[in-house]
Amino acid sequence: MKKISVIVGSLRKGSFNRKMAKALMALAPDSLSLEIIEIGKIPFYNQDLEDNPPQAWTEFREHLKEFDGVLFVTPEYNRSVPSVIKNAFDVGSRPYAKNMWEGKPAGIVSVSIGAIGGFGANHHLRQALVCLDMPTMQQPEAYIGNAESLFDENGELASASVKQFATKYMLAFAAWVELTAPYKK
Ligand SMILES: Cc1cc2nc3c(=O)[nH]c(=O)nc-3n(C[C@H](O)[C@H](O)[C@H](O)COP(=O)(O)O)c2cc1C
Repeated sequence: MKKISVIVGSLRKGSFNRKMAKALMALAPDSLSLEIIEIGKIPFYNQDLEDNPPQAWTEFREHLKEFDGVLFVTPEYNRSVPSVIKNAFDVGSRPYAKNMWEGKPAGIVSVSIGAIGGFGANHHLRQALVCLDMPTMQQPEAYIGNAESLFDENGELASASVKQFATKYMLAFAAWVELTAPYKK
């Protein structure tokens, strides 16, 4: 069983990304154990604080240690990654030489109300994962658009075609984690 941390890039209560994250978790094969890790209360990265790091930084870094892989589910903000995810990257990657993300396989799903499904955020996120040294699944790519039409009144994924795609995505991600997890240090 591989432990996967799920990171959602929206803090909004009614977030479509959070709904999608929950749908992906529910559709995942049994070889994965998935848990959403909250990043909304992690203080902004400031190197001056490294001498006495905020408790939320330490907890987040310790938490990352326990996981075999990370699934990012993110909106696109101004054609890029929401700052809350970038902050989590920065906090988890320091102090120098203690990059907690290193070697953990990653998957990226972007969800947007727009038609191009957060393509810009998806690929900007990929760029940072190169530096963080996370082997990132290439296929299938997941750009989920028109998010407001995909969920029912209970927040459940109602679109049969997206559900089918999400199932396929999670199967591929489970295989990717098996393949690349030994890389974890
Ligand atoms: C600051 C801000 C910037 C946004 N920029 C984009 C964008 O560049 N591309 C896009 O497709 N949607 C953009 N949106 C719309 C989001 O896709 C939409 O708010 C979506 O519902 C956010 O995801 P969530 O439902 O998980 O919160 C933006 C929204 C905000 C608040």
